[in-house]
Amino acid sequence: MIAELKDKILNLSNDISLLISECPNLNSLEEIRINALGKKGSITSYLKDLRAYDDNSKREIGSIVNEIKNKINKEIVDRTHFFKKQILQEKINTEKIDVTLTSYENETGTLHPLSRTVEELCAIFADMGFSIVDGPDIETDYYNFTALNIPTEHPARQEHDTFYLQPNKDGKRKVLRTHTSPVQIRTMEKIDLENFEEIRYIIPGRTYRSDHDATHSPMFHQCEGLVLGKNINMGHLKGCLIEFCRTYFNSENLPVRFRPSYFPFTEPSAEVDIGCRKEKDGSLSIGEGEDWLEILGSGMVHPRVLEGVGIDPSVYQGFAFGMGLERLTMLKYGIPDLRPFYDSDLRWLKHYGFIPVDNPSLHSGLNGVFS
Ligand code: PHE
Repeated sequence: MIAELKDKILNLSNDISLLISECPNLNSLEEIRINALGKKGSITSYLKDLRAYDDNSKREIGSIVNEIKNKINKEIVDRTHFFKKQILQEKINTEKIDVTLTSYENETGTLHPLSRTVEELCAIFADMGFSIVDGPDIETDYYNFTALNIPTEHPARQEHDTFYLQPNKDGKRKVLRTHTSPVQIRTMEKIDLENFEEIRYIIPGRTYRSDHDATHSPMFHQCEGLVLGKNINMGHLKGCLIEFCRTYFNSENLPVRFRPSYFPFTEPSAEVDIGCRKEKDGSLSIGEGEDWLEILGSGMVHPRVLEGVGIDPSVYQGFAFGMGLERLTMLKYGIPDLRPFYDSDLRWLKHYGFIPVDNPSLHSGLNGVFS
C-alpha cells in the first residue's frame, strides 16, 4: 500500500519535472507551480491526505512528499532565473536609446511647510541668542524617562504611547524618543562647570508615539528649548515665550496666557495658550476673540533633574519648553489635516509649500534633516 503510494508520488514528481523543463514561459511556469504546490496543488494534496495514515506511515510519506516539494520548488526557481535572464538578454538586444526624443521636464518641489517652520524657529531663537543642537532618535529608557524624573512606575510612561525596540542581550529595551526632552539631559551632561556661564539651546527633531489620526502621526516633530544659568527665573521664561509666540504668529499684541500645569521634569510647570476665536465653520482666527489655544509646554527645570546631571540647583537654574511643530505649522497656515504632511504629494506641496529663501542665516545647519 505504502510502496504503491510512493510510486505514485514519484511518478507525479517526474511528470511535473518534465512539465517544468518543457514549459515555454513564465506564465505557464506559474500555472505549473500553482497546480503542483499551491493550496489545492497535486503535491500539497498528498500532505493533506496524511491524516488517514498511522504515525509511522505519516512520517515516511511526509518526508518523501517534503523532499519532492523541495526538489520541485528548486526546479521552478532555476527555471524562473532562466526565463528572467532570457527576457533581460532580449531587452539588451532590442532596446536602443533614442537620443533624439524630447526629454521629460523635471518637476521642482517647494519647501515643505514643516521645514519652513523649523527655519523660522531657528531664526527667531537665534535672534534671542540660542544655538541649535540635536540628539539621537533612538534613546535609552534612562534619557527618555528616568533622567527626566519619570520613574519606572510613573503614569507618564503609559501616556507617552512609547515604541519599544527589541531588548538587547542585557534585557534592556531602547525606545524611539517620545519627546525631544532627553536632549536636555544630553546637553547638560556635557557642560564643563568650571567654565560655565549660561547656555541657550533649541533642539528641533523627530519624535515618535503610537498614535494615528487627523491630528496625530506616529512620527512627528518637536522643538525643545533649554536655558540654564545663574540667575534664570520664571520671568525670563515668560518673556522669551511671549516674544516667540508674537514673532512666530506675526501678531504684536497676541494674547499669551501661562496656565499652571504638570510635567515631571519641570517645577513649576506652565502650559502656554494663545488667544484666538474658534469660528463656527471650525476654522481659527489667531489673535482675536475670547478663546484660548494651547501651543506648548514649559517650566523651570526640576532641581532633581539638575542634581541628576551633577548640577547644583542652588547655584544654577533654568527653564525648558517643548512644542509640537506640526501643530504650530497647521495653526499658522490653516492646514486642517496632518496626514498629507508625509504623503509626498506634489499637489499638496505646491499648495502649502514655499519657495526656498536664499538667506544663509535661515539655513541653520539642519538642511536635509526635514526633507
Ligand atoms: N516634553 C514635553 C512633552 O512632550 C514638553 C515639555 C518640554 C514640557 C519641556 C516642559 C518642558 O509634552
